Amino acid sequence: MADLATPMSIRVAATLGLVERAGSGATAEQLASETGTATSALRRLLDHLVTIGVFELDPRSGRYRPTQLGVQMSGDAPAGIKPLLDINSAGGRAELAFVDLLQTVTTGAPAYPHRYGRDFWADLDAEPALRRTFDAQMNWRFREQAPQIARRFDWSRFPTIVDVGGGDGPLLVEILRAHPGVRGRVLDLAPAAAAAAERFAATGIGDRASAAAGSFFDPLPAGADAYLLSDVLHDRDDEHARLILAGYRRAAAPEDGTVVVVEPVRGQGVGTAINLFVLVCFGGRERTVEELAELAADCGLVLRGSAQVADGRTALEFGVAPAR
Ligand SMILES: C[S@@+](CC[C@H](N)C(=O)[O-])C[C@H]1O[C@@H](n2cnc3c(N)ncnc32)[C@H](O)[C@@H]1O
Repeated sequence: MADLATPMSIRVAATLGLVERAGSGATAEQLASETGTATSALRRLLDHLVTIGVFELDPRSGRYRPTQLGVQMSGDAPAGIKPLLDINSAGGRAELAFVDLLQTVTTGAPAYPHRYGRDFWADLDAEPALRRTFDAQMNWRFREQAPQIARRFDWSRFPTIVDVGGGDGPLLVEILRAHPGVRGRVLDLAPAAAAAAERFAATGIGDRASAAAGSFFDPLPAGADAYLLSDVLHDRDDEHARLILAGYRRAAAPEDGTVVVVEPVRGQGVGTAINLFVLVCFGGRERTVEELAELAADCGLVLRGSAQVADGRTALEFGVAPAR
């Protein structure tokens, strides 16, 4: 536990695609030539990967071959961990901010901007390839949950839904598929909104779904029957979460709009590691139902009810609080 040699070796191996390149066996020279790396340094990396059981070495041929454990690092392995290890993907890049955890614990501020010079979302906006890896990771992590969230919550009550911060639209697609009477719109930063529009056209629901580029810190389109916020509040500190919820309150007014927050909820199976990650990466936090209700109440929203809608995800339904 005391050294970074092992976690960094695994990350570098994933970033260089050593498992995929080695296939059923390759020498250090072959792998160095394919990856444009220094042979002697790469050999030392491979030797450490052998020590930790990720590769094995055939001493006669000098070929390295991934073990059963090692193949889990491959891009198409069902474990899906490669995006979290690959330093060139949004997830792997974000994990490296943990190197500056001391800075976060000392100041309470996220390490990501300290390390990379701009916040996570600005970084994705500036790097389209990084953004694509993030959206792919979001899709992967919701591959089972999105259909569950669509089925286990009664979205059919809402003829129009705005999914703010909806990414490239995976959840909205499932909701519209499950509820043919519902129309929806994703509002997200420009690259995600463009990708969502492409997805809606490709999935044949373009007549019921649209996408718009915008920020949830600006006025939201008013008058939708429901506004959805999925995995957005936990990326934000209380001050910014309140700003977002206040914008929803204004858009949902005068009295019959609904705000649905879908989040991992603390006390309902959320791990301590992810709570630390959202702090290091975004300055966010995982909250309990009571904390979310309190935050929403500060913004004129009242909790109507909450229910677990997928493994690790709770839906909290808010209405507009009556004027005093
Ligand atoms: C963790 S992702 C969740 C995506 C999607 N709601 C889901 O659950 O799969 C957070 C989303 O918020 C979006 N986002 C971040 N800042 C935003 C802003 N200022 N305005 C609108 N969307 C924003 C990101 O682009 C990203 O798609």
